[in-house]
Amino acid sequence: MTASILVIGSGGREHALAWALARSPGVERVTVAPGNAGTTGSQHGAAAIETCALDPADGAAVTALCRNRAADLVVIGPEDPLAAGLGDHLRSEGFSVFGPGADGARLEASKAWAKVLMAEAGVPTAACWTATSAAQARAVLAAQARPLVVKADGLAAGKGVTVPETMAEAEAAIEQVFSGRFGPAGKTLVLEERLQGPELSVFALTDGKDLLLLPPAQDHKRIGEGDRGANTGGMGAYAPAPLLDEPGLDAIRQDVLMPTLAALRARGIDYRGVIYAGLMLTPEGPRVIEFNVRFGDPECEVLMPLLEGDLAGLLLACARGELATAAPLRIRAAVGACVVAAAAGYPGSVRRGDVISGAGSDRDLPHTQVFHAGTGRSAAGELVTTGGRVLVVAAHADSFDAAFALAYARLDRISFAGKVLRRDIGHQVRSR
Ligand code: AMP
Ligand code: GLY
Repeated sequence: MTASILVIGSGGREHALAWALARSPGVERVTVAPGNAGTTGSQHGAAAIETCALDPADGAAVTALCRNRAADLVVIGPEDPLAAGLGDHLRSEGFSVFGPGADGARLEASKAWAKVLMAEAGVPTAACWTATSAAQARAVLAAQARPLVVKADGLAAGKGVTVPETMAEAEAAIEQVFSGRFGPAGKTLVLEERLQGPELSVFALTDGKDLLLLPPAQDHKRIGEGDRGANTGGMGAYAPAPLLDEPGLDAIRQDVLMPTLAALRARGIDYRGVIYAGLMLTPEGPRVIEFNVRFGDPECEVLMPLLEGDLAGLLLACARGELATAAPLRIRAAVGACVVAAAAGYPGSVRRGDVISGAGSDRDLPHTQVFHAGTGRSAAGELVTTGGRVLVVAAHADSFDAAFALAYARLDRISFAGKVLRRDIGHQVRSR
């Protein structure tokens, strides 16, 4: 039973997870910590969603909250607490945790480590070179005589990757990484051959033995329409992405996910959580660009409304190593769209404290959902912006045109000063 669930994190991803978990049979209470204004005090049928302020890095505080809430399941949303070993800590305290331990989280927390694992497992990925000094990296670059992709090894909040156009840009990126800008994440650097092709996100739920794949999703990483401008955390998504059909997805299971899980097991790593394969569909076939150890954001917001049935039961089965006997996941016969509304200045430094209106429930727009990300309450109790990505509107329908029309209609009713959004999310699948 999963009467009480704790979700760690504060973004749109965690709001979407909490919302989907609250709809699962038998769930009475979902506590999101630290959460945001959208996860504070709402009722979903039999289940309440509530927020508890705490620092996910404070293992003792999280343990105390788990005890206080008698948590049957803990779902850890972001990569940082996973890499820091929060999953290990809570498991050692006897809790069922969806999310890998620090060992498995290296798949995201060290790109060099992940590349070695992929090579061992025979997973198709870009050719790579690892360097621990700028001189070494420059030597690789000179020998290759092409602008390689430059990646800080560790977690750098999405800012550690440069895809240079010229040798000079590649050299500058190498200097950046070793300048100390990324702290310990920049002690090692990975250089990669540059691949070409559309990108796709594939998510597999796993209990360390079996895998359950969700529909593939496509994110939009750039801030500007036409996929131009600075990289962001993601400005919108859609799923299922027609780029990968059923046989294509099955090939990803066979060629990427199963060998990766086997390689993890061979290292004694019991990985329970989600494996997120960031893929590039190159002319030579799919290649892994990176692995993440959490749901994508905003991919999670588009996927959760497409799931039917007992998500809580499924995540608990993963946490307990019982996925093989869990009730199967049901996917809605619909397509999903989601669009992010960001704050002025995003993805640079953003303005906070702008008052948000129109985000409340809207009964005449069916199948739309507003997930909060960077939201909070002012001293006067108003809903205000508190971060870069402010809200994510998700919708589902029987066509992408209809789903995006719903999402944009809902989003247009929400206003705050400086609201930034892309009007062309899903341009790949929309007819207008
Ligand atoms: P992130 O790791 O999310 O900051 O973004 C990395 C982005 O860099 C990916 O989404 C790709 O668009 C791009 N990228 C990473 N590795 C490669 C590669 N080997 N070839 C081409 N593009 C890459
Ligand atoms: N949407 C991309 C990510 O979550 O990393």
